[in-house]
Amino acid sequence: MRSTGFYIRQKLQWRGRTHKEGVETAAPQWEPTTDRGRQLLKKYPLHEQHSELTLRESLGHLDLLDRFQTPIPDFSHAVEVGVKNWRYLPGLAAWLKKSFKAAKNPRKLIGVEVDAYRLDRRGCSYFETGSYFADQQTSVDLRFEYQALDFKKFHQPVDLLFWFFPLVCSSTHKSWGLPKELFRPRDLFHHAADLLKPQSGFIVVNQGDWEWEESWHYLKSSFDLKEQHVVKGSLHPSDHPIVSTLLIRK
Ligand SMILES: C[S@@+](CC[C@H](N)C(=O)[O-])C[C@H]1O[C@@H](n2cnc3c(N)ncnc32)[C@H](O)[C@@H]1O
Repeated sequence: MRSTGFYIRQKLQWRGRTHKEGVETAAPQWEPTTDRGRQLLKKYPLHEQHSELTLRESLGHLDLLDRFQTPIPDFSHAVEVGVKNWRYLPGLAAWLKKSFKAAKNPRKLIGVEVDAYRLDRRGCSYFETGSYFADQQTSVDLRFEYQALDFKKFHQPVDLLFWFFPLVCSSTHKSWGLPKELFRPRDLFHHAADLLKPQSGFIVVNQGDWEWEESWHYLKSSFDLKEQHVVKGSLHPSDHPIVSTLLIRK
């Protein structure tokens, strides 16, 4: 049973090795090879020294976020569900900085991950790497925090929610090594609707239109669809078209 590993990780809560950026590649000065990648890096300068892997993941998410034309409703407290090791946070942070003008009070985004103690090939946990990027990207105006938490146990009201690639099919959920009892897309989407204030934004990104259809089935009673892009051949390494959607809480 693959999910036995999940329970062992939850019990041990071992953070593994310290994340060191740039050690997994001999070429930290990696440059994108596509026009789209170069354009995005010009528009969203990722100032810090990042490894190739971090730049690729950041560009993959930026390529999806950058397509939204509608202004995203402003926020003070946001949450992102299922952030894995948050390696794409430099891209998300650059997009947030460009999309929202400086506010009186700092904005905050909390990233939650239920399987935060999973180790990558280097022996670093998602928690370790995600906390590294949260600290690295935090500025006076924009704060990030990584939390090892089941989203169902997150109870703070928010005015912006991100969910990149929710596990809405039981087969995908199982292949991620998560226990069967944690497969509750209906509960989780309804929980998202309960946390969001009226008129606030929800950016949901699905792999394949069948995952979008499944998500929309649970979301349509609480949200209006504001903008949607079906993206083929993006910088995100997906085998299927990606459906990127901005919803507004009714
Ligand atoms: C398909 S991955 C997507 C990872 C990341 N958002 C990205 O864009 O690469 C889904 C992630 O959601 C996490 N997850 C699943 N159920 C969750 C829950 N109830 N609360 C928090 N995280 C959850 C999984 O452990 C996994 O890391």
